[in-house]
Amino acid sequence: MKHIRLRDLDVARIGLGAMGMSHGYTGAGTDDDQSIRTIHRALDLGVTLIDTAEVYGPYTNEELVGRALKGRRDQVVLATKFGLISHTGRDGGADSSPASIRTAVEGSLTRLGTDYIDLYYQHRVDPGTPIEETVGTLAELVTAGKIRHIGLSEAGPDTIRRAHAVHPVTAVQSEYSLFTRDPEARVLPVLRELGIGFVPFSPLGRGFLTGAIRSRQDFDATDFRADNPRFTEENFQHNLDLADQVAAIAAEIDATPGQVALAWLLSRGEDIAPIPGTRRVERVEENTAADTLHLTDDQLARLSALPPAAGDTHNPAQMKMMER
Ligand SMILES: NC(=O)c1ccc[n+]([C@@H]2O[C@H](COP(=O)([O-])OP(=O)(O)OC[C@H]3O[C@@H](n4cnc5c(N)ncnc54)[C@H](OP(=O)(O)O)[C@@H]3O)[C@@H](O)[C@H]2O)c1
Repeated sequence: MKHIRLRDLDVARIGLGAMGMSHGYTGAGTDDDQSIRTIHRALDLGVTLIDTAEVYGPYTNEELVGRALKGRRDQVVLATKFGLISHTGRDGGADSSPASIRTAVEGSLTRLGTDYIDLYYQHRVDPGTPIEETVGTLAELVTAGKIRHIGLSEAGPDTIRRAHAVHPVTAVQSEYSLFTRDPEARVLPVLRELGIGFVPFSPLGRGFLTGAIRSRQDFDATDFRADNPRFTEENFQHNLDLADQVAAIAAEIDATPGQVALAWLLSRGEDIAPIPGTRRVERVEENTAADTLHLTDDQLARLSALPPAAGDTHNPAQMKMMER
């Protein structure tokens, strides 16, 4: 697979998101053996960037990734996130205080079975802690060798600039796909100015863009999408129509809709490494094959001209935590 650089960090340009193996989606946590086989297949196919977080599970997703990477740690650019679990007794929400981070990192290292994290992201900006304090603490962890690179997730331009002034930020991870174009206006220009890499999460529109989701009945009660605005009764049909337009372009080139969605993202720059999530071997094979998919200028233009998806990407409380 083609490699790119997230600032000074080399990665194969299609990664693997591990969240849905343990958290948030129908079937999460039901078949860890299959999930581990999926991670191994991804590595065999040349994937290097594996993405998890302390809050996925919570904790069980890092444990799963740690089990999968036994004996293969050196093949991987291991990324995890802190900041959505408070280790200082704060009630709910974000905690990126120095004390919370110092506890969080030790837990993640233990669960991941490693003595260093390649890319350590703040999961959401914490209004209760100045970003300078958070990044100052992360810089100390870099010096101590516990983490190698610093990342932010769903941070806005001002936070990115302030963070980068304290210690170089290697990557920002935010939702970006044919369904969610928000980072283009304000975030991507700042990242390019500062030389920071970009990791689009939910690059398949949380599965919608693959065409595999046809009905709200596809979700069980534990599924995060059941009450996500993108998937409400009101918005579902509009978004299904968009997914069908992606599928129509895929049919022109004998590709799958998910591959087209990923290839469109890859066409947006040499500093972009999406992390599609799946817990199935055949789907990791399909998704990584998007690396070699060629879209014509006309196809790219038609994809870029698609209207935005209907509905916010998160519920109102979660939206408040995102700097867009
Ligand atoms: N920073 C953040 O706040 C944040 C937020 C959300 C996610 N993330 C990260 O981003 C990663 C990816 O995002 P995501 O999982 O939310 O969304 P996604 O990658 O857009 O979509 C994942 C969904 O699509 C399905 N899928 C994947 N490949 C498919 C294929 N080829 N055909 C049909 N269905 C397919 C998966 O189901 P199966 O698993 O059943 O295949 C899963 O339900 C996560 O794993 C996580 O690491 C980060």
